[in-house]
Amino acid sequence: MAPKVGWDALAAWRDERTGEEGDLWHRAIIDPTLLRLVGPVRGRRVLDLACGNGYLARRWARQGAASVLGVDRSRANLRLARQRERLRPTGARFLRRDASRLTGLEDGSFDLVVANMALMDIRDVAGALREVTRVLAPRGRFVFSISHPCFDLDDRSAWVVERGRDPAGVFRDTYWRKVRNYRDERSIRVPWSISESEIGFTTSYHRTLSTYSRLLRAAGLSIVRMEEPSPLPEAVRASPQGRFMLEVPLHLVVEARAHPDLLRRETRRRRARRRASRTSGRSARRAVPRSGSGDHSGRTGSSGRGSRPGS
Ligand SMILES: C[S@@+](CC[C@H](N)C(=O)[O-])C[C@H]1O[C@@H](n2cnc3c(N)ncnc32)[C@H](O)[C@@H]1O
Repeated sequence: MAPKVGWDALAAWRDERTGEEGDLWHRAIIDPTLLRLVGPVRGRRVLDLACGNGYLARRWARQGAASVLGVDRSRANLRLARQRERLRPTGARFLRRDASRLTGLEDGSFDLVVANMALMDIRDVAGALREVTRVLAPRGRFVFSISHPCFDLDDRSAWVVERGRDPAGVFRDTYWRKVRNYRDERSIRVPWSISESEIGFTTSYHRTLSTYSRLLRAAGLSIVRMEEPSPLPEAVRASPQGRFMLEVPLHLVVEARAHPDLLRRETRRRRARRRASRTSGRSARRAVPRSGSGDHSGRTGSSGRGSRPGS
C-alpha cells in the first residue's frame, strides 16, 4: 500500500483518534501540562495556531473564551474542524492560514495564542513566531508544546533497554535514551503507524533548544515558564513508551510573553546588522578589482539555522 504523505493525507485518521478530547498522548501526557500553563480562558480572545481538527479551540469556546479562532494550513484538517463545529456548535471559527502569514488577522487582536505540538512541524518557524508577536495584545501570552528538542529527534534518538541483576540479584530493566547529531538542524521524515500494514509520513524540523530560545527572543517573546510533561498512569499503562517517559521526557511545554520593547530592540539590532553587512560589502567590492563575472555569491543570504526545504 502506498504511504500516506503529508497532513492532508493523515487528517481523517488523526481526527478519528483525536476526537473532541485529544488522543492518548494529548490526554495523558501533553495536554494536562499545556492546559495548566494556559489557565482559565473565560473572556479571553484565543488563537489556536496549527489547530489540527480543532479539539482545543472548541474546548476553549465551550469554556467561555470571548472568541476562539483556529488556523491550520491543511485543507483536510480545516474541513474536519468545521464539520465538527457544524455538528456540535461551540462558537469557534476556523480559517486556513499558514502560521507564518496570518493575513487578515489584526495586530494585537489576541490575548492568548496556543500552538499544541506544531512548531516543530512548521518550516518557517521564525516567521510564525513574528506573526504570534504581531497578533498578540501587549503582554499577551503564547503557550506551546513541542517534541522535546533534546530527547526526541525521531530517527536520531531511540530507547535502549538493558536488563541486568541489581545488587540484590533481582533482574531489572534500565531505560536509556540515546541521541545523536543533536546539533544537526534539518528536516526529518516522521513515520506514523496507521495500522499493521499502513504507514504515513509528515515532515518535521529539528531545531536545538538554543535555536528555539534565540528565535523566541528575536520575535520579541520571552520565556516565563518551561515544563517537561510526565505521563499520567493512563499513558504508562497504555503506551509502550509510557514507563520510559517517566524517566526521560519527550515533550516540552513553554509559556512566553510578548514584549513589544524586546521586539523593537531586536528589530533595531537586525537592521543595524544588515546596514553593517551592506556597508562592509560595499567597501569589500571597492577593494576588489572588478572581474566582470557578475558573481554575487559572496552573500550567503541565510543564517543556515532552522530548517531546510521539506522532503
Ligand atoms: C502534530 S499536528 C498538531 C495539530 C493540533 N495542534 C493537535 O495538537 O492535534 C501539526 C499541525 O501543524 C499544521 N501545520 C504544519 N505546518 C503548518 C503551517 N506552516 N501553518 C499552519 N499549520 C501548519 C498541520 O497541518 C497539523 O495540523
